[in-house]
Amino acid sequence: MTDKELIALAFEACEKAYAPYSGCKVGAALLGKSGKVYTGCNIENSSFGATNCAERTAVFKAVSEGEKEFVKIATAGIKEGESAVFYPCGICRQVLAEFCTEDFPVISAKSEDEYETNTLGDLLKNSFRL
Ligand code: THU
Repeated sequence: MTDKELIALAFEACEKAYAPYSGCKVGAALLGKSGKVYTGCNIENSSFGATNCAERTAVFKAVSEGEKEFVKIATAGIKEGESAVFYPCGICRQVLAEFCTEDFPVISAKSEDEYETNTLGDLLKNSFRL
């Protein structure tokens, strides 16, 4: 699965976002070691703290379906009607760190051709692990 293909799936997933409060539609596509892709979108709540980000939706779908080893993740989304880069929030970085090593690639895309790849270690240095 190429980065471009994974980004396309993240864009598709963002269309499913439930984001009546922020208006930001975010999608994530997480490639499992099995080759299966788990997509996710952000799901907001009137009690804002209960909102779930796209990345966590994807990770939780994967883990709940029995997959815990991952190759890479891509995020993409739309803010104020235009595609925008979304970097994972702190909570999502910590959730990824539970299952992924520091060299895990996190792709933040503005389009299928314009994207940045950071490792999880760059995004969350010295992550908390038990
Ligand atoms: N959000 C995500 O889903 N992923 C990110 O990487 C950053 C932020 C969502 C949460 C909330 O619904 C909206 O974007 C605005 O913060």
